[in-house]
Amino acid sequence: MKKYKVGIIGATGMVGQRFATLLENHPWFDVVVVAASPRSAGLKYKDAVGKRWCMDTPIPADMAELTVMDAAGDIEKIASMVDFVFCAVDMKKSDILALEEAYAKAECPVVSNNSANRHTPDVPMIIPELNPEHAEIIPAQRKRLGTKRGFIAVKSNCSLQSYVPALFPLSKFGIKDVLVCTYQAISGAGKTFDTWPEMIDNVIPYIGGEEEKSEIEPLKIWGKIEGDKIVPATSPSFTAQCLRVPVSNGHMGAVFVRFENKPTKEEMIKIWKEFKGLPQELNLPHAPEHFLNYFEEDNMPQTKLHRDLEGGMAVSIGRLREDTQYDYKFVCLSHNTLRGAAGGAMLLAEQLCAQGYMD
Ligand SMILES: NC(=O)c1ccc[n+]([C@@H]2O[C@H](COP(=O)([O-])OP(=O)(O)OC[C@H]3O[C@@H](n4cnc5c(N)ncnc54)[C@H](OP(=O)(O)O)[C@@H]3O)[C@@H](O)[C@H]2O)c1
Repeated sequence: MKKYKVGIIGATGMVGQRFATLLENHPWFDVVVVAASPRSAGLKYKDAVGKRWCMDTPIPADMAELTVMDAAGDIEKIASMVDFVFCAVDMKKSDILALEEAYAKAECPVVSNNSANRHTPDVPMIIPELNPEHAEIIPAQRKRLGTKRGFIAVKSNCSLQSYVPALFPLSKFGIKDVLVCTYQAISGAGKTFDTWPEMIDNVIPYIGGEEEKSEIEPLKIWGKIEGDKIVPATSPSFTAQCLRVPVSNGHMGAVFVRFENKPTKEEMIKIWKEFKGLPQELNLPHAPEHFLNYFEEDNMPQTKLHRDLEGGMAVSIGRLREDTQYDYKFVCLSHNTLRGAAGGAMLLAEQLCAQGYMD
C-alpha cells in the first residue's frame, strides 16, 4: 500500500487530538498538515494545543513541531500538500458547509466528523461495516462539484454508533420500532471533568440536537442509492432520549426493539457473534477483528471495562431479554471519540483508500 499524506483540520480540538494519536505510526497515512482557527495558526502544534491536550499518551513527536496552518485561510496551500484531510471543527453549520466544499473543490477529499454535510443527498454517510456501498455515490458528487478527485464523505453521529451496528445486521427480520435511551460521555461535548466540573456527580437530561440526529441519521445508513442521491429509508421508526452522564468516554444505549418477524434470542446472538463487514474482509488497519461482541454476564458491558475493546473500535452488547411491550430489550456500548468519532473516520478513510477513491 502506498503512503498517503494527510492533514487534520481542527487538529487542536478533542477529536483532532484523537486523530493525531491514531495517526501516529499509521501504516498507510503520514500527517503533514495540522490546521485550526486563526487563533492557533502560526504556532507550533504543541504550543497551540498547550494545556488542552487531553489524550492519555503524549503529543506525537513528529506532529508536535508542525506549524499550525489556518484551516480556512490556507485551503489551496493545504490541498497542494496532502492527498486528503480529516475534518473536525467547531464552527457554524454554514461555515463548515463552505469549508468542506472549498477543500473538495480544491481537489482535496474530505473525511468529516462534522454534522453539516450528513444530510447532503450525494454525500455518503458511512459506517464501513454496515453501508460501505454508499461510497458508490462519490462519482455523482464529483460531477455536481465539478471535481476530478475532490469529494466529501462523512461519518454519522457518535450517539448511534452503538445501537445502529447492533440493529443493522438484524434487518432481515423487518425491524419496525426502536426506542433508545443513550447515556453519553462528556468527551462527546469536547469536555473533560477538569473543563466541566459541573458534570461530576450529575446527569443532564439534554444534549442539543442529539435526539433528532439519533432518530434521523440511521435512516440514511439504511438508505439506498437512487440515481445521483442516497434516498433515506422510511423504516425502522426511531425514538430517542439522550442524557449526558458523568463518564469521561463511552456512550451506552438502552434499546427496545419490535420486529415484523420476531427472531429468537439465540438467532440474534449468533448473528452478532458471526457478523463481519468489508473492513474485516479487507483487513483494514483499524478494523476490529470482532465488530460486535455479545456478553452473557448480567452486569456487562460496562463503560469503564469495555469501551476500549479492540482499540475502542468494537461495539459491546449485552442483557438481551424479552420485553413486556416490545419484542426485546438490550444494552450496547461504543467509544464515542474512537469508533464514534476519529476512529470511525479513520476506518472510513482506510476503506476509501483501499477502494481507490483517494488516488
Ligand atoms: N467530541 C466528540 O466525541 C465528537 C464526536 C463526533 C463528532 N464530533 C464533531 O467533531 C467536531 C469537533 O468536535 P470537538 O469536540 O473536537 O470540538 P473542539 O474540541 O471544540 O475543537 C474544535 C476545533 O475547531 C477549530 N476551530 C474553531 N473555530 C474555527 C475556525 N473559525 N476556523 C477553523 N477552525 C476552527 C478549533 O481550533 P482552535 O483550537 O484554534 O480554536 C479546534 O481545533 C464538531 O463538529 C463535533 O460536533 C465530536
